[in-house]
Amino acid sequence: MSDVPFGGKRPERGLAVGAPDAHDYGTQQGTAAVTPLVYILNGPNLNLLGQRQPEIYGHTTLADIARDCAALADQLGLATRFEQSNAEHQIIDWIHAARQDGAAIVINPAAYTHTSVAILDALNTFDGPVIEVHLSNIHKRESFRHHSYVSHRADAVIAGCGAEGYLLALRRVASLVGSG
Ligand code: DQA
Repeated sequence: MSDVPFGGKRPERGLAVGAPDAHDYGTQQGTAAVTPLVYILNGPNLNLLGQRQPEIYGHTTLADIARDCAALADQLGLATRFEQSNAEHQIIDWIHAARQDGAAIVINPAAYTHTSVAILDALNTFDGPVIEVHLSNIHKRESFRHHSYVSHRADAVIAGCGAEGYLLALRRVASLVGSG
């Protein structure tokens, strides 16, 4: 379990806390009880952003992205729960948690994008908006990255915008859930 680096409060409930294979980047609590909560979920190897193939994924770290998402969400009248895990089951458990208190899901499933029927099935149990994000343009890359299971459920897909893609996704969520 990691520290919460940006002053976000830990979730009062949820499966992330204490999970050995999960990275909790903090929960940004809204000021009003009704502030819509957006789960921002990140899949395998994204904890290495900034070090990992920077020519493809850039120099921005996941902690940078979490911080920028929390700041924008605050402006948009959204709360965020930003998580990363290298374990498929953990991502599924977070999607299940979002069924309880999430208004929307922004997800970069990373390599599980191209392999995980289980994550697709979990997303299909969630009623709110789902926005799929990829830092790179997966369609410009190897052919095995061209297919996304998650796109079968996603209401929108943002690829190739780098870290800004997460912020674009949050703006779309704000439009869809009518916050702000
Ligand atoms: C990625 C693209 C995936 O194909 C890859 O496996 C990743 C990151 C992206 O953000 O561009 O790990 O989802």
